[in-house]
Amino acid sequence: MFENALRAGETRFETKLVGIEDQAGFAAAARALAEGEVVGMPTETVYGLGCDARNPEAVAKVYEAKGRPSDNPLIVHVASKELIPELVSEITPVARVLMDAFMPGPITVIMKKSDVIPACVSAGLDTVGIRFPIHPVAQALIAASGVPVAAPSANLSGSPSPTKAEHVMKDMNGRIPYVVEGGECQVGLESTVVDATGNWPQILRPGAITMEQMEEALLAAGISKPETVIALQNKAGEAPRAPGMKYRHYAPSCEVHILGNGDFDQYEAYYKEAVEREIIDSRTPVGLFVSDTIAAEIQVLFEDQKDKILFYTYGQTDDVEAASQHLFDGLRVLDGQGAGIIFAPAFPKEGLGVAYMNRLEKAAAEKVSKAEAPKAERKVLFVCSGNTCRSPLAEAIMRHLWKATEPHVMLGQPGVQASLEVSSAGVATSDGCFYTRYSEEIAEYEYDEDITGERSTMLTEDILKAQDLVICVTNDHSHFLRERFPDLSDKIFSFEELLEDNYIDGIDGEVLDPYGREYEVYQKTAWQIEQILRAVLPEILKKWEMT
Ligand code: TXA
Ligand code: MG
Repeated sequence: MFENALRAGETRFETKLVGIEDQAGFAAAARALAEGEVVGMPTETVYGLGCDARNPEAVAKVYEAKGRPSDNPLIVHVASKELIPELVSEITPVARVLMDAFMPGPITVIMKKSDVIPACVSAGLDTVGIRFPIHPVAQALIAASGVPVAAPSANLSGSPSPTKAEHVMKDMNGRIPYVVEGGECQVGLESTVVDATGNWPQILRPGAITMEQMEEALLAAGISKPETVIALQNKAGEAPRAPGMKYRHYAPSCEVHILGNGDFDQYEAYYKEAVEREIIDSRTPVGLFVSDTIAAEIQVLFEDQKDKILFYTYGQTDDVEAASQHLFDGLRVLDGQGAGIIFAPAFPKEGLGVAYMNRLEKAAAEKVSKAEAPKAERKVLFVCSGNTCRSPLAEAIMRHLWKATEPHVMLGQPGVQASLEVSSAGVATSDGCFYTRYSEEIAEYEYDEDITGERSTMLTEDILKAQDLVICVTNDHSHFLRERFPDLSDKIFSFEELLEDNYIDGIDGEVLDPYGREYEVYQKTAWQIEQILRAVLPEILKKWEMT
């Protein structure tokens, strides 16, 4: 997949930064876009890496520049609503309302795609995300290029999305021919991604356009919330998902901690306490993503230790728009200045606060310890209730996928082969029960893995402690384990939490429970587990510093 990938430090282009006032430069960038090159493009949300969406060779260059595998669908950007019907095969009433109400603007509407969109853009899905940015430079560039522009955010895979042209220059220098300057992005968080293929919108990624706004527009257009959605929401309300436990990330390389709970008059005290605690024996400076007024207070309080504190101020304490706009820049700047830990404020999860907290929690969840030396062996455990059907299947499939993608090598330690120990256990079982026959048969016939000699294992704290990663078949299992073993919660995920925004057609929510059902159901479960593990294995390897 990456035969042509650029190695770190390798340069293929002299990247030019052009502004819209530089007519010749801007025209050259638009032409490059039309001719199949990749161009860094401003939008009101974050900068994108644009290319001609109809040209698979251009799309391949985007993935190459970004350094990520091509398994994530790209959003297609247009500069006029008139072009949309050509790109999609169906505009549902919901999609129509969202387009009328929020385009141009920070929203991506997912619709069934037309044949104009190649499979490499949609990552094999039959849908495509359409976005009409409101940023004038984005509109001018897309219009001048004359092509629909497929673009992911313009960061290197793993770093926060870029909100300034300088971020793109830093991540992409030498990898693409042009970056177009468009100033600091107004919104600062990526667009709301909303699936509008059904009779009610489903948010896949929160952003500046909120569910409340969409509901209002839909109601005004005479579309009311379907009963089934209401029923589902009530059901979901019983078991709120634990936030911040995601595997994928918008993370800087240092730790990020979230302060407070939206009780803004306490924030000064929280920052003070956090700085006091961290500064004592820390050799690296403490980074504060903080409001102007609290920064001023902290400066006074820690006057004699000011070289140990790095400040990035975003505006007024309770200004969620300002905090959202500057979050990614703040993380990049503080990280770049060498902060060992970054503190950032929580906002209430309402309106734009939902999107802000979503990105901040992802950054905070990614506690990569820089000191941790790479080791050549990792352990992964699958957990379900009985440890007789789903987790044994997952165990077999993971082993199979691992073998199928071998050899795995430790990054920075050429020649050191990485190995994986896979096991499974149940939270509500005893030792020694038989695995279900269908799980054994599927493992053997479809994955060439023999698990017939194995028996169920009761999950214990010692087993959990020995793992590098614990994957639970449902969210209930992962919630339960994190609650029960909070100290180990960093490595505990459910399938759904791991999958996060890797959307897979045919899997919504949790994997099927085949217990007591026919062979076909076991097969479907196995298929779902396989798809999920295929999607997340690259991320897991990356996190473990393996290739
Ligand atoms: O604000 C934005 O949306 C920025 C700017 C450049 O427009 N773009 C952006 O693209 O954030 P990217 O590739 O970094 O994130 C796109 C997200 C991914 O999580 C992807 O899985 C999801 O949108 N997505 C795109 N098309 C999809 C589809 N057809 N079905 C489900 N999810 C989709
Ligand atoms: Mg992105």
